[in-house]
Amino acid sequence: MTAVLTALTLSVSASAVAAACDDGEIVIKFSHVTNTDRHPKGIAASLLQTRVNEEMNGKACMEVFPNSTLYNDDQVLEVLLQGDVHLAAPSLSKFEQFTKVFRIFDLPFMFKNIAAVDAFQTSETGQAMKESMTRRGLLGLAFWHNGMKQMSANVALNSPADASGLKFRVQNSDVLKAQMAALGGSPQPMAFSEVYGALQTGVVDGQENTWSNIYGQKFFEVQDGITETNHGIIDYMVVTSTDWWDALDGDIRDQLATIITEVTNVRNAESTSVNEQAKADIIAAGGVVRKLDEAGRAEWVATMKPVWEEFKDDVGQENIDAAQAINA
Ligand code: LMR
Repeated sequence: MTAVLTALTLSVSASAVAAACDDGEIVIKFSHVTNTDRHPKGIAASLLQTRVNEEMNGKACMEVFPNSTLYNDDQVLEVLLQGDVHLAAPSLSKFEQFTKVFRIFDLPFMFKNIAAVDAFQTSETGQAMKESMTRRGLLGLAFWHNGMKQMSANVALNSPADASGLKFRVQNSDVLKAQMAALGGSPQPMAFSEVYGALQTGVVDGQENTWSNIYGQKFFEVQDGITETNHGIIDYMVVTSTDWWDALDGDIRDQLATIITEVTNVRNAESTSVNEQAKADIIAAGGVVRKLDEAGRAEWVATMKPVWEEFKDDVGQENIDAAQAINA
């Protein structure tokens, strides 16, 4: 891709950030669902695009499709396997249809913060998870961080009892459905791109997500407020298809892998500050954030944590123990 085209690409709207590729370059299509400039994943994907297009110019060219403009998360793993896109970074919840071990990341109050998630992912167990789906044609290349999840609804969620009887959007994950059921809520799985409209029209009453997603999708504008529960995490796996990856020339594959690792290290270190900024932006825009004291938080823990029991055989008691040892 030429420098002129790079400049043109950077000047187009954030909703359609695609690069023009030159003949002979390997085209790498990366589809994701968030914005490009105020979100840990979006910023990382944009940096990856910039670096690939500068450093692999003439050999490879990356086109990033953000904001669910090409595919949503319910579609992207399927099209990745078909070869229509080459990279994606769905949340870890989206992989439970391929391997139940990933359910550990959805269990409420499993990780106390993103540093604990990072330590688990960089352990031998976590690293092995990247290759746990190769039989199904998927290869994980890196974990990308987002942040801790918060709860919001169209009524004040001062205690878990306030969630009873409400409809909550969840990602399509059995753990998350069980978590909302434990609150007495009704879980409604739906794609990320549909959540704002569903909250606005009352199809659902509430949702759970990170500050950067609540800000980036403007959920706070159509909710009574957000309760700072920090009850779970949203993190991502950068994923490709084994067919596509294995067909790359070794030097191209190595260079791309190195750039992905470097981008991962740089951007993962910033994910918490991106979310803190989003929280500040929500408050500045008039959104209501409700903090919990220790006793208040203990009520949410007591209500949600029992779902671990239902899933402990899927995720392995030894993995739960390892995650808890990291938290200690
Ligand atoms: C969601 O579906 O809520 C998130 O996984 C979206 C995302 O990619 O952060």
